[in-house]
Amino acid sequence: MKTEVIVETPTHKWLYFGRDPERNDKIIDTNQYLVQSGHQSLLMDPGGIELFAPMLASLVRHLPIEHLTYLFASHQDPDIISSLGLWDQTLPKAKLYSPWLWESFIRHFGMNNIKFEPIADEGGKLLVGEVELQFIPAHYLHSSGNMHVYDPIAKVLMSGDVGAALEDDNPGIYVDNFHSHTQKMQFFHQRWMPSNRAKDNWIARVRSLDIQYMCPQHGRIFRGEQVKQFLDWFAALDVGIAS
Ligand SMILES: [Fe+2]
Ligand SMILES: [Fe+2]
Repeated sequence: MKTEVIVETPTHKWLYFGRDPERNDKIIDTNQYLVQSGHQSLLMDPGGIELFAPMLASLVRHLPIEHLTYLFASHQDPDIISSLGLWDQTLPKAKLYSPWLWESFIRHFGMNNIKFEPIADEGGKLLVGEVELQFIPAHYLHSSGNMHVYDPIAKVLMSGDVGAALEDDNPGIYVDNFHSHTQKMQFFHQRWMPSNRAKDNWIARVRSLDIQYMCPQHGRIFRGEQVKQFLDWFAALDVGIAS
């Protein structure tokens, strides 16, 4: 599995995991992100059950597994967190942060040891090692209870399904040409995002953040000026379209 440091500060770093070469082409490709600071780490949207073994193998090359202290599930989808039952046996002392709305659904993936930490609708904060991360509401984009993760020090927004792209085999991990990239994003956003009102609400919230890297759960990472290009493109896009 491809692994790359996205950004590193004196206190912490962001790691990318993805482009699993063993992936069945009938399932959607996913990106996994880790924030690591000292002896604590947060793994965001850990992935599907099929991805558990390659994720674990990749992670232990970078940190002792007991340093993986927190999991985060932006929402309830299987591509986000159907691996939970296996993490539950591997990391019995870990905590899972996820929108409160989904607790009774997410527990169906198997959760006997890990502690569920509900995130309120208005968001919240989590200290990982020396870095305080923020949970940013992204409800109805596309899930009705949905959170993103913002790091104000490294200036990274983990944006879940927002910014997702559907690509052919093994693309690069960063957006190169923004305009051609929009063709790979349009269907996903129009079909999966149900609400223009929710979209506008999220864009207003995110425009107030200083973001150098926007990291979606599918597709490629946006850097620098591409973040504003994405927000402008998304603002102009009509969503909630099924035909
Ligand atoms: Fe999703
Ligand atoms: Fe997804």
